[in-house]
Amino acid sequence: MSRRPIIAANWKMHHDHLVSIQYLQKLAFLLEGYDFDAVDVVICPPFTDLRTVQTLVEADGYPFRIGAQNVHPEEKGAFTGEISPVMLAKLKVQYVIVGHSERRQLFGETDEFVNAKVVAVLANGMWPIVCCGETLEERQAGQTQAKVDGQVRAAFAGVKAAQAEHCVVAYEPIWAIGTGHNATPEDADGTIGHIRATLRDLYGDVADAIRIQYGGSVKPGNIAELMAMPEIDGALVGGASLDPDDFAGVVKFQV
Ligand code: PGA
Repeated sequence: MSRRPIIAANWKMHHDHLVSIQYLQKLAFLLEGYDFDAVDVVICPPFTDLRTVQTLVEADGYPFRIGAQNVHPEEKGAFTGEISPVMLAKLKVQYVIVGHSERRQLFGETDEFVNAKVVAVLANGMWPIVCCGETLEERQAGQTQAKVDGQVRAAFAGVKAAQAEHCVVAYEPIWAIGTGHNATPEDADGTIGHIRATLRDLYGDVADAIRIQYGGSVKPGNIAELMAMPEIDGALVGGASLDPDDFAGVVKFQV
């Protein structure tokens, strides 16, 4: 089955809402209609940029899809500083990154909390981008498959097959994030194939429709060889997404 490529920019804590306007105008200038025909292009800015990005996308008809970097699982309540899935859906957010390794490592997010977010995102009509990946120590101990298998099973707990179709998984080996050292295409493809086998165990043939991205030091110079692999359906891009020229170079991996 051929799956539609999905390439997402994870700006992390970069670019205020004014910068987001300049960025999107430049990126829209750099990309052609056929780029958008070929790839889902998702922009995941900080929360404070979302309203600006939504307004620009709607006013200028840019075919970008809007993503958020995080969400709280509850729809409302006494959760000072948090943003609910209802609020994101109102801003035409379509994708939400869930369980990024920085959130797990720096902010103590557990598998259970990640699962609650996945369920909440789906319940509000958005698509989670479910992140998983091993540390260098786990990799060296031969635990990569067990780690991602556990993270994926936990994240999808209670998610039905019909909902799983509306999920994206991002395999992001932690040792490759922001380090300049990407996994080799063969290595990433092997682990992503393993993730798909886990999804097949959970959801049967639906697993063939679920897009699985690779993330970790993706850039214009390595995206083509990654995307050439049969199991890799896209990329979650951090550092190289901060500059519109670089990110356009990643989106144009087929050119
Ligand atoms: P990177 O980040 O591209 O800078 O390695 C990827 C990510 O954290 O999503």
